[in-house]
Amino acid sequence: MAVEKVSVQKILPDPERWAVEVYGLEKRFVRRQGLPGDTSVGSFQWLYSTLLKYRNKPEFVRALNGVDLRVARGEVLGLLGPNGAGKTTLIKCLATLLKLDGGEAYVNGYNVRTQPDEVRLSINLVGSGHWVGFDWGLTIEQNLHFFGSLYGLSRSERQERIDQTLGRLGLEEYRRATPDVLSAGQRQRMLLAKGFMVRTPVFFLDEPTVGLDPEGARDVREFIRTQLIGHTGTSAILTTHRMNEAEALCGRIAIMDRGKVVAHGTPLELRRLAGERSVLEIHTRPVPLAALAAVREIGGVLTAAVSPVGGEGLEESLRVHCEDVDRTCESVIATLKDHGVNVLSLEQQETTLEDAFIGITGRRLES
Ligand SMILES: Nc1ncnc2c1ncn2[C@@H]1O[C@H](COP(=O)(O)OP(=O)(O)OP(=O)(O)O)[C@@H](O)[C@H]1O
Ligand SMILES: [Mg+2]
Repeated sequence: MAVEKVSVQKILPDPERWAVEVYGLEKRFVRRQGLPGDTSVGSFQWLYSTLLKYRNKPEFVRALNGVDLRVARGEVLGLLGPNGAGKTTLIKCLATLLKLDGGEAYVNGYNVRTQPDEVRLSINLVGSGHWVGFDWGLTIEQNLHFFGSLYGLSRSERQERIDQTLGRLGLEEYRRATPDVLSAGQRQRMLLAKGFMVRTPVFFLDEPTVGLDPEGARDVREFIRTQLIGHTGTSAILTTHRMNEAEALCGRIAIMDRGKVVAHGTPLELRRLAGERSVLEIHTRPVPLAALAAVREIGGVLTAAVSPVGGEGLEESLRVHCEDVDRTCESVIATLKDHGVNVLSLEQQETTLEDAFIGITGRRLES
């Protein structure tokens, strides 16, 4: 009997609705081999690891392990995740900078695998610390003219955008300076100025405020809010380790961990997922590590973390994220007492996005 051939339904992108569609995306890297401790010759490292690669079967790091994600037209999706979760790898795959090992992805309706040129014309990538593309012998203004002309902008269009962007990003006085005289934070602003020269339907913003002081970060957020989100139809994926940034700019947030999207929703939905009133904030005398470990062992405690209060190190704030505060509170206090920790006050608090993040991934965000 002939076996009926089952036709695998092909995923069809829906560019009217979605700016980015990602289905089962996979990416793996060859794990880099380290050198034995007694080797110190720099160039030898490359030779040694290459030889090892050929001799041993390569080991792989699964940076993306089946990512599913969609970004609606006009939406800014926040992408959060601990270090090494795969955020930058995902953005690089979508920006056609890395080849996919599995799955499908569409950006602005174009297939990342088969239509890379169309994808590149649809996107703008603002990363952090990628200063190599700048000509260090040209001024900031000349550099920006150069980038604008690569995208085919006329001289007057370029000048208008340069004037607008430099002013908004606080770089006006450095217009005629070369990049080498700028601080790291100022160079990050220069990178943003370059990124925002060209208006594309999709933006990938990989930690755009990293290295900026609080005021600079606020300016950039304001810039993204007014210039990008205010611009109808523009969509973006924004990765950040700053919770306030994600809450201020993103309607929806996806949390990545170990190469997968493990939760997504509005900030409120994510907080609810973690339990809305499930955090116990305890003001104490310093908590020894053994006491903290004992609190973490209590049944119903999801995470516990201490942070200092005031500059003298005499008092601390212990934040305990529980499944049910009413049931766990007594055991937490008793455990602290057993370890000789003085409780000064305690209160039940609403979960923050950071609590939700820790609850979901079991890890704290690095800032
Ligand atoms: N070129 C590469 N070669 C080998 N491994 C890599 C490479 N790039 C990334 N990785 C690995 O892939 C994983 C994901 O890295 P990625 O840079 O995407 O994380 P991330 O979520 O952006 O982290 P961060 O918050 O620190 O920026 C990590 O384990 C990393 O070591
Ligand atoms: Mg990254």
